[in-house]
Amino acid sequence: LENGSLSIIVLGASGDLAKKKTFPALFNLYRQGFLLPEEVHIFGYARTKISDDELRNRIHGYLVSDKGASPKDVEDVTNFLQLIKYVSGSYDGEEGFRLLDKEISDNEISKNSAEGSSRRLFYLALPPSVYPSVCRMIRHYCMNRSDLGGWTRIVVEKPFGKDLDSAEQLSNQIGELFEESQIYRIDHYLGKELVQNLLVLRFANRFFLPLWNRDNIENVQIVFREDFGTEGRGGYFDEYGIIRDIIQNHLLQVLCLVAMEKPISLKPEHIRDEKVKVLQSVMPIKDDEVVLGQYDGYTDDPTVPDHSNTPTFSTVILRIHNERWEGVPFILKAGKALNSRKAEIRVQFKDVPGDIFKCKKQGRNEFVIRLQPSEAMYMKLTVKQPGLEMSTVQSELDLSYGQRYQGVTIPEAYERLILDTIRGDQQHFVRRDELKAAWEIFTPLLHRIDNGEVKPLPYQPGSRGPAEADALLEKVGYVQTHGYIWIPPTL
Ligand code: BG6
Repeated sequence: LENGSLSIIVLGASGDLAKKKTFPALFNLYRQGFLLPEEVHIFGYARTKISDDELRNRIHGYLVSDKGASPKDVEDVTNFLQLIKYVSGSYDGEEGFRLLDKEISDNEISKNSAEGSSRRLFYLALPPSVYPSVCRMIRHYCMNRSDLGGWTRIVVEKPFGKDLDSAEQLSNQIGELFEESQIYRIDHYLGKELVQNLLVLRFANRFFLPLWNRDNIENVQIVFREDFGTEGRGGYFDEYGIIRDIIQNHLLQVLCLVAMEKPISLKPEHIRDEKVKVLQSVMPIKDDEVVLGQYDGYTDDPTVPDHSNTPTFSTVILRIHNERWEGVPFILKAGKALNSRKAEIRVQFKDVPGDIFKCKKQGRNEFVIRLQPSEAMYMKLTVKQPGLEMSTVQSELDLSYGQRYQGVTIPEAYERLILDTIRGDQQHFVRRDELKAAWEIFTPLLHRIDNGEVKPLPYQPGSRGPAEADALLEKVGYVQTHGYIWIPPTL
């Protein structure tokens, strides 16, 4: 569609996010032919004074796994790294940004044909405290060359503030410098395959249309579990906690896609309009519908204060006040240092009325969307136990991606999202009013936690979290099927 030069500028180039996510995603896009060497130049920008080669060396190890680098991989890596240049400078002084602009412009001129445009993508792999100053510098010194046409876009990632006021302040600061259409707020959960599949699933299948409501669905769970703690990033985590780290963004975004009404079309604004409506329909969180936890040993981390009140686990019930969902609890649950690592959506249906198989309590129908690991969708249902007897058993209809789509590589979330930013598609990015509505839901609870009015319960690392969380699930109507467990098929 668009041609001419494309400059991708990764600010905070030597940080963790850039090394682990941004550059590998760019590399994968390059390998698949989405970044053409005759058009693209990649710039790393950071404060440290290092050479181009030093930056390349730092990134190198993250691009392909040591185990399986083929000669083609090695060649691709070498060619990709040659596209990267490094510029050093501060995040609030004009000198560095003028230099950056000069480097970008020189490159644009050398790569542009007469009709080519100047496309500039600034990826802020930085702490949000410097977003305002960096955005100001870009706005003043590094915008795309108007004589060449094209665009300037900025990509930012959470944390966007710590509560409603600080988030709005940040939005105002950035909003004074850039139009909403230039701002790409990443929530990497929106780049996951099965999250992207939600709208197709819901709106392209007759199966789900009549069932997806309060008449049939008893409760919805959106769960994130990790089997490791906050080691290595305790300082960051302690300031934010599990609600700001996972629930207010990743799980809430998933909730929007599960609960929203059908958009008028697939245009990004139509989709985002519907997401905002759901968020605005969420009722205030009730105190007795929250359980917080902190795993034993969390405060042993030297970067975490001894008396930290920060939750590393939380179960929160959200209630959506609209025609479709009134009375259906949306259970959002996230925890660090638990017994397993997975993320899934569980839609649990009501019991069958007038059940005639009374001899044994039937498990409920559940539709499970496994986001990771082992992407899958399965429907838990009751069937006749195969054999001579007329008895029932729980089973499943299973669409496991590893089996059904053998040989298909599922792209990394960041890879997809960066491609969207280049293409100018904001569908999978968080709009300003969405962000505001998300903070409105959680800010009162967060303030109460910050003030020490609500305290996390202790739990053992490697456990399911505090027992009170399971009790809450039961209280709001979730029924666990005992004696049934889905096993991902092995190839
Ligand atoms: C990040 C959180 O946004 O998401 C981390 O800050 C968390 O705490 C990570 O580990 C989880 O992402 P994924 O893609 O591994 O589920």
